[in-house]
Amino acid sequence: MPPILPRLAACLAVLTVSAAHAETPPPVIAGKALFEENCITCHGPTASHGRSGDIRGSDYYRVRNATGGIERMPEIDVTDDEIRAIVAYLAHLKTAQ
Ligand code: HEC
Repeated sequence: MPPILPRLAACLAVLTVSAAHAETPPPVIAGKALFEENCITCHGPTASHGRSGDIRGSDYYRVRNATGGIERMPEIDVTDDEIRAIVAYLAHLKTAQ
């Protein structure tokens, strides 16, 4: 008799993970709205094209630095929480490609 229980447990784990992926977590939804409002004009709908390059998957520090104003990107008025939501959305775009 093969050990069925560990296999069953592994199957359940996979199912649980894929179910979690199917739902879009709230910060990603908030981040999408913020991105569309503040960033999409320059970075495009996929955040990966144009002269500003691919910014998908940028971390908190990178986004905070950029929104403070860098070379060709103007300062953008976003709060710390908004930056975190945008970072969640950029991470989502990266994994959804
Ligand atoms: C007016 C156009 C414009 C807008 C609006 C804009 N960006 Fe940018 N962004 C740029 C350009 C151009 C660059 C390329 C870097 C450079 O040379 O300045 C850039 C670069 C970046 C980078 C990469 C910085 C690095 O370290 O290389 C990040 C992250 C970023 N932007 C995030 C954002 C986010 C988040 C928003 C919205 C809150 C936003 N940008 C809105 C023009 C813009």
